[in-house]
Amino acid sequence: MRLRDAKEKYVNPERASKYRARNSEDTRRSRREAGLVLRALSTFDLLPGAKVLDVPSGAGRWSKLLTDRGFDVVGADYSLEMLEYASEFAPGASFVRADGFRLPFAEGSFDLVFCFRMIHHFEAQAVCGTLIPELLRVSKRFVLASFFHPLSMHGLKRRLSSMISGKAHSRFSLPPSEIVSASLGAGARNVTFFPEGRFLHELWLAKIEK
Ligand SMILES: C[S@@+](CC[C@H](N)C(=O)[O-])C[C@H]1O[C@@H](n2cnc3c(N)ncnc32)[C@H](O)[C@@H]1O
Repeated sequence: MRLRDAKEKYVNPERASKYRARNSEDTRRSRREAGLVLRALSTFDLLPGAKVLDVPSGAGRWSKLLTDRGFDVVGADYSLEMLEYASEFAPGASFVRADGFRLPFAEGSFDLVFCFRMIHHFEAQAVCGTLIPELLRVSKRFVLASFFHPLSMHGLKRRLSSMISGKAHSRFSLPPSEIVSASLGAGARNVTFFPEGRFLHELWLAKIEK
Protein backbone atom coordinates (compact mmCIF):
# COMPACT_ATOMS: atom_id res chain seq x y z
CA MET A 1 0.00 0.00 0.00
CA ARG A 2 1.29 3.47 -0.79
CA LEU A 3 1.94 5.79 2.12
CA ARG A 4 -0.98 8.05 1.36
CA ASP A 5 -3.49 5.20 0.99
CA ALA A 6 -2.81 3.70 4.45
CA LYS A 7 -2.93 7.13 6.03
CA GLU A 8 -6.23 8.09 4.38
CA LYS A 9 -7.92 4.70 4.92
CA TYR A 10 -9.45 5.51 8.32
CA VAL A 11 -10.42 9.07 7.36
CA ASN A 12 -13.42 7.39 5.72
CA PRO A 13 -16.17 7.60 8.45
CA GLU A 14 -17.67 4.20 7.56
CA ARG A 15 -14.31 2.45 7.82
CA ALA A 16 -13.45 4.31 11.04
CA SER A 17 -16.73 3.28 12.63
CA LYS A 18 -16.26 -0.38 11.57
CA TYR A 19 -12.74 -0.37 13.03
CA ARG A 20 -14.00 1.05 16.32
CA ALA A 21 -16.77 -1.56 16.54
CA ARG A 22 -14.33 -4.41 15.81
CA ASN A 23 -11.73 -3.21 18.29
CA SER A 24 -14.02 -2.41 21.16
CA GLU A 25 -15.32 -6.00 21.16
CA ASP A 26 -13.88 -8.44 23.66
CA THR A 27 -12.62 -10.92 21.05
CA ARG A 28 -10.02 -13.67 21.28
CA ARG A 29 -7.70 -11.55 19.17
CA SER A 30 -8.08 -8.43 21.32
CA ARG A 31 -7.45 -10.48 24.48
CA ARG A 32 -4.39 -12.12 22.89
CA GLU A 33 -3.03 -8.73 21.83
CA ALA A 34 -3.63 -7.20 25.27
CA GLY A 35 -1.82 -10.17 26.85
CA LEU A 36 1.16 -9.62 24.57
CA VAL A 37 1.29 -5.86 25.26
CA LEU A 38 1.05 -6.42 29.04
CA ARG A 39 3.77 -9.09 28.88
CA ALA A 40 6.08 -6.65 27.09
CA LEU A 41 5.13 -3.70 29.35
CA SER A 42 5.96 -5.76 32.45
CA THR A 43 9.63 -5.65 31.36
CA PHE A 44 9.78 -1.81 31.41
CA ASP A 45 10.82 0.11 34.51
CA LEU A 46 8.34 2.94 33.87
CA LEU A 47 6.70 4.61 36.86
CA PRO A 48 3.17 6.03 36.95
CA GLY A 49 3.29 9.52 35.47
CA ALA A 50 5.74 8.49 32.72
CA LYS A 51 5.02 10.22 29.42
CA VAL A 52 3.74 7.88 26.72
CA LEU A 53 2.90 8.57 23.08
CA ASP A 54 0.34 6.17 21.56
CA VAL A 55 0.68 6.47 17.78
CA PRO A 56 -1.49 5.67 15.91
CA SER A 57 -4.08 5.79 18.67
CA GLY A 58 -6.92 4.46 16.47
CA ALA A 59 -10.14 4.18 18.48
CA GLY A 60 -8.21 4.54 21.75
CA ARG A 61 -7.99 1.01 23.17
CA TRP A 62 -4.26 1.31 24.05
CA SER A 63 -4.52 4.92 25.24
CA LYS A 64 -7.13 3.67 27.74
CA LEU A 65 -5.00 0.71 28.86
CA LEU A 66 -1.98 3.01 29.29
CA THR A 67 -3.84 5.76 31.21
CA ASP A 68 -5.40 3.04 33.42
CA ARG A 69 -1.83 2.13 34.36
CA GLY A 70 -1.16 5.69 35.49
CA PHE A 71 0.84 6.90 32.51
CA ASP A 72 0.51 10.42 31.12
CA VAL A 73 -0.70 9.57 27.62
CA VAL A 74 -0.82 11.54 24.38
CA GLY A 75 -2.60 9.77 21.51
CA ALA A 76 -1.82 10.77 17.93
CA ASP A 77 -3.60 9.70 14.76
CA TYR A 78 -4.01 11.03 11.24
CA SER A 79 -7.77 10.43 11.17
CA LEU A 80 -10.03 12.98 12.91
CA GLU A 81 -12.81 10.38 13.05
CA MET A 82 -10.57 7.95 14.95
CA LEU A 83 -9.42 10.76 17.27
CA GLU A 84 -13.02 11.54 18.16
CA TYR A 85 -13.69 7.92 19.06
CA ALA A 86 -10.44 7.72 21.02
CA SER A 87 -11.13 10.80 23.13
CA GLU A 88 -14.53 9.34 24.09
CA PHE A 89 -13.03 5.94 24.92
CA ALA A 90 -9.93 7.18 26.77
CA PRO A 91 -10.93 10.51 28.36
CA GLY A 92 -7.82 10.48 30.57
CA ALA A 93 -5.50 10.91 27.57
CA SER A 94 -5.03 13.95 25.35
CA PHE A 95 -5.12 13.62 21.57
CA VAL A 96 -3.57 15.37 18.59
CA ARG A 97 -3.91 14.94 14.88
CA ALA A 98 -0.50 14.00 13.54
CA ASP A 99 1.29 11.99 10.88
CA GLY A 100 3.39 9.25 12.49
CA PHE A 101 6.10 9.83 9.89
CA ARG A 102 6.44 13.52 10.89
CA LEU A 103 5.56 13.88 14.53
CA PRO A 104 5.03 17.40 15.90
CA PHE A 105 7.12 16.79 19.03
CA ALA A 106 10.62 17.73 20.08
CA GLU A 107 13.38 15.12 20.43
CA GLY A 108 13.07 12.97 23.54
CA SER A 109 9.57 14.19 24.46
CA PHE A 110 8.32 10.79 25.71
CA ASP A 111 9.60 8.01 27.96
CA LEU A 112 7.83 5.45 25.77
CA VAL A 113 6.54 5.66 22.20
CA PHE A 114 3.99 2.91 21.61
CA CYS A 115 3.14 2.03 18.00
CA PHE A 116 0.64 -0.79 17.52
CA ARG A 117 -0.69 -2.09 14.18
CA MET A 118 0.87 0.62 12.01
CA ILE A 119 4.15 -0.77 10.68
CA HIS A 120 2.55 -3.61 8.68
CA HIS A 121 0.59 -1.09 6.59
CA PHE A 122 3.79 0.29 5.04
CA GLU A 123 6.63 -0.97 2.90
CA ALA A 124 9.98 -1.76 4.53
CA GLN A 125 11.70 1.26 3.01
CA ALA A 126 9.23 3.72 4.59
CA VAL A 127 9.27 1.89 7.94
CA CYS A 128 13.03 1.45 8.24
CA GLY A 129 14.06 4.68 6.52
CA THR A 130 11.55 7.08 8.10
CA LEU A 131 9.05 5.68 10.62
CA ILE A 132 11.40 3.89 13.05
CA PRO A 133 13.89 6.80 13.13
CA GLU A 134 10.98 9.23 13.74
CA LEU A 135 9.53 7.15 16.61
CA LEU A 136 13.01 6.96 18.15
CA ARG A 137 13.61 10.69 17.69
CA VAL A 138 10.64 11.70 19.90
CA SER A 139 11.44 9.03 22.51
CA LYS A 140 13.82 9.56 25.41
CA ARG A 141 14.07 5.87 26.33
CA PHE A 142 11.84 3.28 24.67
CA VAL A 143 9.85 2.44 21.56
CA LEU A 144 7.44 -0.53 21.65
CA ALA A 145 6.18 -1.32 18.15
CA SER A 146 4.24 -4.17 16.58
CA PHE A 147 5.11 -5.63 13.20
CA PHE A 148 4.26 -8.68 11.12
CA HIS A 149 6.88 -11.44 11.09
CA PRO A 150 7.34 -13.04 7.62
CA LEU A 151 7.17 -16.64 8.93
CA SER A 152 3.77 -17.60 10.33
CA MET A 153 0.83 -19.85 9.54
CA HIS A 154 -1.62 -16.94 9.71
CA GLY A 155 0.49 -14.80 7.37
CA LEU A 156 0.77 -17.67 4.90
CA LYS A 157 -3.01 -18.21 5.02
CA ARG A 158 -3.63 -14.51 4.42
CA ARG A 159 -1.21 -14.37 1.48
CA LEU A 160 -2.74 -17.52 -0.06
CA SER A 161 -6.28 -16.18 0.21
CA SER A 162 -5.30 -12.88 -1.37
CA MET A 163 -3.63 -14.82 -4.23
CA ILE A 164 -6.75 -16.95 -4.71
CA SER A 165 -9.17 -14.01 -4.53
CA GLY A 166 -6.92 -11.92 -6.79
CA LYS A 167 -7.14 -8.99 -4.32
CA ALA A 168 -3.89 -7.08 -3.85
CA HIS A 169 -2.55 -7.64 -0.35
CA SER A 170 -2.16 -4.55 1.80
CA ARG A 171 -0.11 -5.91 4.68
CA PHE A 172 3.66 -6.07 4.73
CA SER A 173 5.86 -8.26 6.86
CA LEU A 174 9.34 -7.35 8.02
CA PRO A 175 12.18 -9.59 9.24
CA PRO A 176 13.32 -8.78 12.81
CA SER A 177 16.87 -8.28 11.47
CA GLU A 178 15.66 -5.25 9.45
CA ILE A 179 14.04 -3.73 12.55
CA VAL A 180 17.31 -4.23 14.43
CA SER A 181 19.45 -2.57 11.77
CA ALA A 182 17.03 0.37 11.30
CA SER A 183 16.91 0.88 15.08
CA LEU A 184 20.65 0.64 15.69
CA GLY A 185 21.20 2.90 12.67
CA ALA A 186 18.88 5.49 14.25
CA GLY A 187 20.75 5.48 17.56
CA ALA A 188 19.12 2.69 19.58
CA ARG A 189 21.36 0.43 21.67
CA ASN A 190 19.22 -2.69 22.09
CA VAL A 191 16.21 -4.45 20.52
CA THR A 192 14.28 -7.39 21.98
CA PHE A 193 11.30 -9.22 20.54
CA PHE A 194 8.02 -10.57 21.90
CA PRO A 195 6.21 -12.95 19.52
CA GLU A 196 2.46 -13.38 19.85
CA GLY A 197 2.84 -17.06 19.00
CA ARG A 198 6.01 -18.05 17.16
CA PHE A 199 5.28 -19.53 13.70
CA LEU A 200 1.51 -19.38 14.31
CA HIS A 201 0.58 -15.68 14.64
CA GLU A 202 2.34 -13.02 12.59
CA LEU A 203 2.16 -10.16 15.08
CA TRP A 204 5.33 -9.53 17.10
CA LEU A 205 6.41 -6.65 19.33
CA ALA A 206 9.83 -5.03 19.15
CA LYS A 207 11.09 -3.32 22.31
CA ILE A 208 13.67 -0.77 21.19
CA GLU A 209 15.86 0.89 23.83
CA LYS A 210 17.84 4.05 23.35
C1 LIG B 1 -5.08 -0.55 12.28
S1 LIG B 1 -5.39 0.99 13.10
C2 LIG B 1 -4.47 0.76 14.61
C3 LIG B 1 -4.91 1.67 15.69
C4 LIG B 1 -4.47 1.29 17.12
N1 LIG B 1 -3.03 1.38 17.28
C5 LIG B 1 -4.98 -0.07 17.54
O1 LIG B 1 -4.18 -1.02 17.60
O2 LIG B 1 -6.20 -0.20 17.77
C6 LIG B 1 -4.45 2.03 12.13
C7 LIG B 1 -4.56 3.50 12.51
O3 LIG B 1 -3.44 4.13 11.92
C8 LIG B 1 -3.80 5.44 11.54
N2 LIG B 1 -2.78 5.88 10.57
C9 LIG B 1 -2.46 5.33 9.37
N3 LIG B 1 -1.41 5.98 8.84
C10 LIG B 1 -1.06 6.95 9.72
C11 LIG B 1 -0.05 7.94 9.74
N4 LIG B 1 0.82 8.06 8.74
N5 LIG B 1 0.04 8.75 10.81
C12 LIG B 1 -0.84 8.65 11.85
N6 LIG B 1 -1.82 7.73 11.88
C13 LIG B 1 -1.93 6.89 10.84
C14 LIG B 1 -5.21 5.27 11.00
O4 LIG B 1 -5.92 6.48 10.97
C15 LIG B 1 -5.77 4.25 12.01
O5 LIG B 1 -6.40 4.90 13.09
